[in-house]
Amino acid sequence: MHSRQPTIRDMPPPPHIVGLQHFTTYAEIDEILRSRSFRQGSHQESQAFFGRSLLTIDGDEHFERRRLEAPLFAKIALDYYEHTELIPLIHKTLEECRANRSDDGVVRADLCVVLRTMLARIAAATTGIDGVDTPERTDAFREYVELLGTGATVEWSTEDHGEVIQRILKVRDAFDREFFAPSVARRRALIERHRRGEIGRDELPVDLITMLYLHWNDDWDEGLPIREACLFLVAATQTTTHAVPHLIAHLDEWFDSRPEDRAKVSDGVFIKRAAHEALRLHQPSPALLRIATEDFTLSNGKKIAAGERVACLFTPANRDTSAFGADAREFNPYREVSTVKPWGLTFGGGQHICIGRTLVTGLSARTDNDEGTDGTVVNIAGALYNAGIEIDPDDPPTYTQASHHDAYGRFPMLLTRL
Ligand code: HEM
Repeated sequence: MHSRQPTIRDMPPPPHIVGLQHFTTYAEIDEILRSRSFRQGSHQESQAFFGRSLLTIDGDEHFERRRLEAPLFAKIALDYYEHTELIPLIHKTLEECRANRSDDGVVRADLCVVLRTMLARIAAATTGIDGVDTPERTDAFREYVELLGTGATVEWSTEDHGEVIQRILKVRDAFDREFFAPSVARRRALIERHRRGEIGRDELPVDLITMLYLHWNDDWDEGLPIREACLFLVAATQTTTHAVPHLIAHLDEWFDSRPEDRAKVSDGVFIKRAAHEALRLHQPSPALLRIATEDFTLSNGKKIAAGERVACLFTPANRDTSAFGADAREFNPYREVSTVKPWGLTFGGGQHICIGRTLVTGLSARTDNDEGTDGTVVNIAGALYNAGIEIDPDDPPTYTQASHHDAYGRFPMLLTRL
């Protein structure tokens, strides 16, 4: 099987960061993200969708919100999501693919679509959206999340930004009526019963919406829960949906040159290392923006003025030879790193570092121990290899044209053992 497009690309910088000071080395970006002299500078145009959500607040307010939401990603919650939600949802989604068996007996599907379905269901479970169960309801929900994602990442859109925002706000109203409001109503009723002593704390769902209403803060406006939920839904789905096809494409190329490794598709440690490499080489967001709150001089002498908005370009930083070795541009599941995370800066750094990282990669960054969870990427890739995934040789994958993201738009596959 052959993926015909190059697996590693150099993307041109998106238009809205042209003119900003750019940082491209691992050390510079790490220093900026960890520093308290910067605040969030991304998502300025998407305030209607992400305004005052965890991602866009800073300082004490951010610290408090993060502390409130942290239990959603504690070991006990991750164990629950992985074993009770994720693994059954992966199998349910693959089972549904069987319906697409062609006359030649082979199951064909678009990996991007299958992933969106899986991730939509997983994101619904962690966020607390009910009724994402049948294929029809999942399709409707998935469509909403994808459209909400277009609004939330409007900065990267190749369409007219004002028009995108207006269109997607109407979509969010419909999402509210159809999915969000009924899910909130059910949770608020459960919380009331819990407060009256009728049900225990452990009988409440483990999800974001329950957490927000259980610990309601009077400083929040009533639109905050839907914006926070949109952040979680978009952050959880698009990112992982982008990562898995890159992993499959890289492994396909790797096995072509190292056929002796092909049997390792059932080796969880090998897949985990490969997943870290795919995550390192491809970021869901081409750049993170930060605004300096005071004059700042980096250790290498570069200066940033108070109020200046800067762009941290993860792609070159994650291919920085001083951090990842001479072959940093290459995919190498055997790479050893000592001072940096194996996925580099892909999950960000500092106060806004991805809160969902452990859901994606499992609890431990290490591959030589088992902390109980493997994460979504390894579980999904494992299930796909079990189902006999092959890239469709007659219809190679293509990159998305709809945005500046480094992501596949179509990824036709065969599931030869389904
Ligand atoms: C491959 C998967 C993922 C990648 C590469 C990724 C990447 C990132 C990055 C780079 C940030 C930092 C943004 C910034 O500093 O401006 C971030 C933040 C965040 N991510 Fe993820 N993410 C992934 C999956 C998830 C999942 C599964 C969830 C939720 C269940 C999630 C929820 C969030 C949230 C809520 C934030 C904001 C955190 C904060 O501002 O404190 N992400 N993510």
